[in-house]
Amino acid sequence: MKVLVIGGGGREHALVWKLSRSPRVDKIFCAPGNAGISEIAECIDIKADDIGALLNFARYEWIDLTVVGPEAPLTMGIVDAFKREGLRIFGPDASGARLEGSKVFAKDFMLRYGLPTAEYKTFTSYLHAEEYVRLKGAPIVIKADGLAAGKGVFIAESHDEAIDALKKIMKEKAFGDAGSRVIVEQCLRGEEASFMALTDGDTIIPLATSQDHKRIFDNDKGPNTGGMGAYSPAPVITHETADVVMKTVMNPLLKGLKREGIDYKGVIYAGLMICDGKPYVLEFNCRFGDPETQPVLMRLESDLFDAMKATAEGRLKDINISWKDEASVCVVISAKGYPDSYEKGKVITGLDTLKDEDNVVVFHAGTSINNDNIVTSGGRVLGVTAIGKDIKDAKENAYKAIDKIHFDGMHYRKDISDKAIKR
Ligand SMILES: Nc1ncnc2c1ncn2[C@@H]1O[C@H](COP(=O)(O)OP(=O)(O)O)[C@@H](O)[C@H]1O
Ligand SMILES: [Mg+2]
Repeated sequence: MKVLVIGGGGREHALVWKLSRSPRVDKIFCAPGNAGISEIAECIDIKADDIGALLNFARYEWIDLTVVGPEAPLTMGIVDAFKREGLRIFGPDASGARLEGSKVFAKDFMLRYGLPTAEYKTFTSYLHAEEYVRLKGAPIVIKADGLAAGKGVFIAESHDEAIDALKKIMKEKAFGDAGSRVIVEQCLRGEEASFMALTDGDTIIPLATSQDHKRIFDNDKGPNTGGMGAYSPAPVITHETADVVMKTVMNPLLKGLKREGIDYKGVIYAGLMICDGKPYVLEFNCRFGDPETQPVLMRLESDLFDAMKATAEGRLKDINISWKDEASVCVVISAKGYPDSYEKGKVITGLDTLKDEDNVVVFHAGTSINNDNIVTSGGRVLGVTAIGKDIKDAKENAYKAIDKIHFDGMHYRKDISDKAIKR
C-alpha cells in the first residue's frame, strides 16, 4: 500500500515512523516532510495547505491512504476534496474540523450536548465584552474564535490584562477575522492533560493519555509555545477519570456529531483540565497533538496503518489497540529565540550516534538538508523521544540522548515529566 502523510513536523515524523513499521505499507510519501522524515519516506515539495496539488499528487501516484497531520488543511476542506474524488483519507471533513477551527462552534456544541466545560459567553461587540469582564472579574480567560497558531488565548490575572486582551483581539485585530468573535470564559484551576481518541463516527477508541508542556522555560515559566515536551501515560488521568472522560465527553460528543449529521472520521483530541479529579474540556483539536503524538506512538504496540485505514473506512469496530506497559518521554529542542523569531541554518551534530539505540528515537520537527549537513529550519527543531520502564527511566534515557546532540543556540527544558514523577 502507498501512503501519503501531509505535514512536516515532529508529529508527522512520528506518524511516518510508525506507519513504516507496518507490513502492509510498501511506500510512504510526505509533503513537505523534513530531513528526518526523508530517511524513511520520500519527501515531496508540496505545502501542507496546497489542497489542489496534494489531490493531483494522490491521484497520479494512486495513493491508498492519505493521512493529514496539521489542522489547517482539515479546516480548509481537504477531506471533502479527497472524498469527492473517491480517495481514501484519514481526518474529519470541514464540518467536523470546526470543532477546532471555531472555538465558538466547539463551546456551543458542548453546551448543546452537556459536555463539562468552563462557563462562557460569546461577543462580537467590544463594549459588551468589556461589560461582561467587569461583571465577572479576574482571573478570566479571553479567547479569539478562530485559528491563531496557539497565540489567541489570554489567561488574564487582572482586570487590566483582560481589557488589554480584548483590545488586542477586537480593536487592533491582531488575529484578523479569527478574532471577529471572542469568548470570555471562567478560569479553571487544575492540571492539564491530553486525551486523544480514534473515531469513525460510530466507534471510539481512546489512545494512551499524555501531557504536554506549553511554556518555554522550566517550571512552566515564560511564554507559551507549540509544546516543549510531553510524556505518556499521564498519571493525572487515572483509570476512573478516563472512564469519566469517555462517559461525559467522548460518548456525548459522538452522539452530538451524529445528531448534527457530521461524519467525523479521524482523531479527536480533547485538551482537558482535571480539577479535583473531574475533567473539563478546554478545547478540541481535530488532529494528533504535537508533541504528544511522539511519546504516544512510541508506546503503540498495534499496527497504526490498519487502525487508520479502518477509521477512514468506518470499520473501527474491527480494530483492537494495544499499548506497551513502558512509559515514554519526549523532550523538544528548540532554536535560539523561539517562540519569537528564531535562528535558522545551524548545523546539527551527534544524530548519527543515536541511530542504533533501541529505546530512543529522535523525531525531527524543523530540520532540512544543506550541503549534506542536517541544519535547523524551524523553531522547534527535534523531539528526542525515549521509552523506559517508567517515566523516570524514560526521562533519563531522553536526556542521556540529548547530551550527544549539539547545535548553536539549542534550548530545551530540563524538567519534562517531573510533574508525573513527583506524583
Ligand atoms: N478556561 C480556562 N481556564 C484556565 N486555563 C485555560 C482555560 N482555557 C484555556 N486555558 C489555558 O490556555 C491554553 C490554551 O488554550 P486552548 O483553548 O487550548 O487554545 P489553543 O491551544 O488553541 O491556543 C490551555 O492549554 C490552558 O493552559
Ligand atoms: Mg490547546
